[in-house]
Amino acid sequence: MDPAAPPSFAARADDLQQSAIRSVTRRVNEVDGINLGQGVCDLPTPEPIKARAHQALREDASIYSHYAGIEPLRRAILKKEQAHNEVPAPSPEDVVVGVGSTGVFVSAAFTLLEDGDEVILFEPFYGYHRNILELTGATIRYVPLGGPESMFDRAAMEAAVTENTKAVVVNTPANPSGKVWTREELSTLVDLLHDHDLVAITDEIYEYMLYDGTEHVSLASLPDAYERTITLSGFSKAYNVTGWRLGYGVAPAPIAEKMGLMNDLLYICAPRPLQHAALAAFEDLDDEYVAQLQADYAERRTLMCETLEAIGFDVPWPDGAYYVLAGFDELSDTRAGFADDAAACDTLLQEAHIGTVTGGSFYRRPADGKRQLRFCFAKEMPVLRQACDQLRDAFAD
Ligand SMILES: Cc1ncc(COP(=O)(O)O)c(C=O)c1O
Repeated sequence: MDPAAPPSFAARADDLQQSAIRSVTRRVNEVDGINLGQGVCDLPTPEPIKARAHQALREDASIYSHYAGIEPLRRAILKKEQAHNEVPAPSPEDVVVGVGSTGVFVSAAFTLLEDGDEVILFEPFYGYHRNILELTGATIRYVPLGGPESMFDRAAMEAAVTENTKAVVVNTPANPSGKVWTREELSTLVDLLHDHDLVAITDEIYEYMLYDGTEHVSLASLPDAYERTITLSGFSKAYNVTGWRLGYGVAPAPIAEKMGLMNDLLYICAPRPLQHAALAAFEDLDDEYVAQLQADYAERRTLMCETLEAIGFDVPWPDGAYYVLAGFDELSDTRAGFADDAAACDTLLQEAHIGTVTGGSFYRRPADGKRQLRFCFAKEMPVLRQACDQLRDAFAD
């Protein structure tokens, strides 16, 4: 045996590879460009949250916590979900704090799904949802949903449901499409949950990034939905702490208890001092913080979308989240370097030093996204302005 050769890997690891998003990041760095690809928000963390983190470290709040999180944080999350999201969770027993909303998604997926089960995923999808669902051994059934203007199609979902379907994953506001599910669409989904005995996992990590008065509705707030819903959210996006790895899930206590035990097994607990710091999000930051965040993102969205329109992209303005999944049918017909998404991604990197994500990464059949690129506008305004100037300089006529 060649001593330098790696061991044989488990099938679940064999298929893993560096995501296209990360390799774009590397190439952007090589040309000292601006990365509008990876969904990393590099805005500063609010001071009150940083101050509480310092305090927690000074006070040695550093040992393991309860596997589902420290009690004051679970209570604060409960209060927020009840008051802000109108989710009828009755007790902190229904709350699980985890290692990012992604960690809680993993715990939820492994609690519910196994080989032989089926799960519905809408496309375009968020890659981590797909890849984590695959790790559970369940079979994914894809249902097309489209962008901000498209409506949830009950018949399309029913066509994908079988007797083995156990769960459905909803992301609202959605990455990458910017679609925000309406109350009516969610009500239709609740009917389907009952008709087919399904559980919904809703990823609401972008719940505060909303535009033009769009309302965020939590599925679990609708009549008779709570018992069948696992609601996920977190601190990463709203408080600019993506690297802290802190998120949460809310679900009926029997489900939350199992998710907590899964969380214990996989992670033991979320980072303890940062759990204390996250309390500041509820205690020290008020509605004004969220209003300012929304105004700032609205400004960024306008700049991003107007720039992309000016250089020839077809831009479905997002209703929520902080991405634009823009089409370039016209550019492919009129300009060299836009034959497909990989070519367009290269062209933007080489000619404007801007990183993007290929549309194909968001579809089961990559060809479905071959005339799309995703742009992330969660950047400080001067950086985003610079990026938009570079795009205009390179591509505006
Ligand atoms: C839809 C969606 N869910 C979850 C996450 C990650 O959230 P967290 O940092 O809480 O794990 C992202 C990050 O890009 C995302 O786009």
